[in-house]
Parts: sequence; C-alpha cells; structure tokens
Amino acid sequence: MEPLTVSPAQHFENSDHLEAALSYQTPAWGYTRIHNPTLHYLEGTLALLEGYGSDVETSAVMTSSGMSAIFMATNPFLQAETDGMNFVADAKCYGGTFMLFDERYQNERGIDVRWVQDTANIDAWATRIDDETRFLYVEMPSNPSLTVADLEPLANLAHDHGIPLIVDSTLTTPALMRPICTVRTLSCIPLVKRSAEADQRLLVPSLPNTISRAVSVPMKCGKTSLATSFGRCATTAHHCLHVLLYSQRFAYVRTRVDVMSKNAMRVAEFLEAHDMVEAVHYPGLRSNAGHATASKYMWLADGDESGNAVNRYGHLMSFMVKGGAEAARNTLDRLQIIWRATDLGRHKSVAVIPAISTHQQQGEEGRELAGIPANLIRLSIGVEHPADLMDELDQALR
Ligand SMILES: Cc1ncc(COP(=O)(O)O)c(C=O)c1O
Repeated sequence: MEPLTVSPAQHFENSDHLEAALSYQTPAWGYTRIHNPTLHYLEGTLALLEGYGSDVETSAVMTSSGMSAIFMATNPFLQAETDGMNFVADAKCYGGTFMLFDERYQNERGIDVRWVQDTANIDAWATRIDDETRFLYVEMPSNPSLTVADLEPLANLAHDHGIPLIVDSTLTTPALMRPICTVRTLSCIPLVKRSAEADQRLLVPSLPNTISRAVSVPMKCGKTSLATSFGRCATTAHHCLHVLLYSQRFAYVRTRVDVMSKNAMRVAEFLEAHDMVEAVHYPGLRSNAGHATASKYMWLADGDESGNAVNRYGHLMSFMVKGGAEAARNTLDRLQIIWRATDLGRHKSVAVIPAISTHQQQGEEGRELAGIPANLIRLSIGVEHPADLMDELDQALR
C-alpha cells in the first residue's frame, strides 16, 4: 500500500545509524528533500513503469514540473565549459524547452544550440555533431506538431559519439512508449522526462515529472548518476499528500491513455475529412509522414483486451484551420465543451492556439524554425464520448 509519511525528518537510533543513513549505506529516508517514503514509493513506481516489460534497471527522480526535469536532465552536461560547447536539438519542441535552450543556454550562456529542422533526417543530426557536442535532444512525438523521431538510429548516433540521447516522451506516457527499454541494447538513453499525468494539473499548480536513467553508462561528458547526485541536491521536495494523489492517479494511466488514444484516432480521422481543415497532425493517421515510425515505437502496454499487440498514438493532435489565424481564433472561441487551456493529457479535452500561447514567447522566427503556423490549433483529447467531440468541433469550424 502507498505509505503516507508526513514528518519532514526521520529519528535515528544512534550515531552509527545516522552516519550510515546519511552516507546511503543503509536504507533510510532521513530528510524529506533527500527522500520521503511516500515520494520514494512513487519514484519507484515510475521507475518500474519506465522499465516495464524489460529487465533494464531504472530509477527516477521527481521534479516539480516538466521544465524542471528538462533543466535537470540537460544542465549537468553543460557544466565543464569548453570552447565551442554545443548540443544538437530538434527545433520542433515545446515552447518552454525552446526558450530554455535558445534564451537561457544560447543567448545568456553562449552555448551553441544546433537546431535540427528535419527530425527524420539522421544526416542532419550527424553533421551537427563534433567533439564539443554534449548531447542530442528530441521530443517523441513533439508538441505541438506531433513530429515523430526514429529513436534507434538517433541513439546509435549518440552512442557512436559517446554522448547521451535525451528523450522527452511526455506525450506517450509509459503506457505507450518506454524509450529506456526501446533502445536498451545501446544503453545510451540515460534520461527521460515524463509528464506524470496531466490530470494532476487540476489538483496542483505544478506537475511532477521524472528523470529516469538506465544503468550507469560511462560517457565522455560524465554525470551519469543524476538520481543520487544532482537530483538530490537540487530537486524540489513534494508534499507527501500531493505525491499520494499522483500515486493513485498512476494506477489508471494505461486505461486512460488507451481510451483517450482511441477517441483521438476517431477525432483525427473526422478532422482530416473536414472541409474547413487544411491539415491534421496525428501520428495515427496513415497519411502522417511519421506514421510508420510511430507504429514502430508506440504500443499499448500489455496489448488490447485479448492481449494482442496494438498500436496506440496518444491523446494529442494539432490541426490547421482553413482561413488563417483569424479563422483559427474564431474556431477556438466557438468551443463549448472543449476547454481553452494550455495543459494536455487530462481527462477533459482542451485546446489552444500555440502561436499565441505555449509557443508565443519564441517569436515569429522561432515559430518558423519549429514549424508552428498561426492557424494551428493544438487539441488534447480526453475521455468524453468521441461523437460529442466531433459535433463540438464541427460547430466550431463552421
Ligand atoms: C513535451 C513537453 N515537454 C515539456 C513540457 C513542460 O512541462 P511543464 O509545463 O510541467 O513544465 C510540456 C508541457 O506541456 C510538454 O508538453
């Protein structure tokens, strides 16, 4: 059962116990920021989910937000500064990630961020790597363009250069994809940022995410044991009651992702056939450029009701409205049961226009780099009846 430990600190039997506990020689939790049984339980669960179905050893560190996880996953590799220090990242990424990389790392710290625009082109990644490259970074799939990355060749490339491939697989959840297992033989993906379950955004202002790691892999840029080093020094301590709520939510992640993905598939097909829609980005659609790659990686854990392996493509999609920015705004404003909100993955469907919200700060040029037009609506599908969602979208598009 989930333990609930409210006290911020543990009592030690004697000085030997104190010393052994604080040097991690004996199982103990000691102090909430370092560990807490409630948090330990959830981190352990997340680590098991990330490694589910394989014998890969995983561990997880909770952070208070996705951006915090991304910062913790990337910053340690950028510490020992050298001339020409750089990393290679997919330009099609979440707006907050783009700002961290472009503004904080590149403009403020002078780190060379080498953007890749054509995710599927492995040569575009390869030619940007040199001796000072610290890591490769990709979202799979990306927010909001749902671009799909072929993780295997990317991990191979990273492996050949002795650097990590950092994968933000927020949109799949471990119910659909566990990158640590997928490319396990290369043992070159030490970090994965996971959005825990977006429903939690309703309950708390910040969302926990994990940084998981495979067994320690020596890499030329070092810093392989984030879970016990950097994570423990810099992570934010969650209140145990929040953590307990997250633990309970995780029990349903596979079921919810299954329902939401099936709904999303139907809505995507509906939108694709709609005469007011210019294009739909959803990897489940056969017409999507990344469909074959998505089908290689995105599988529902444990298969369908009969245990048969089945692809699912997640809850998120985006679509371009005919008539430009104004038409997209009108469509968004006419929504009645779909909420206008910037989160994603919750049980209620939500929509935003990324160009004026999640990806506003990166400016016109940044959005062009990331391929985000002004008439793009991002739609996160929930567990409502798909017929209601299709009626809703139809009335909003007319
Ligand atoms: C793909 C992706 N990465 C990172 C983040 C950042 O997460 P947070 O808003 O919890 O910081 C988000 C947020 O939606 C996201 O969609």
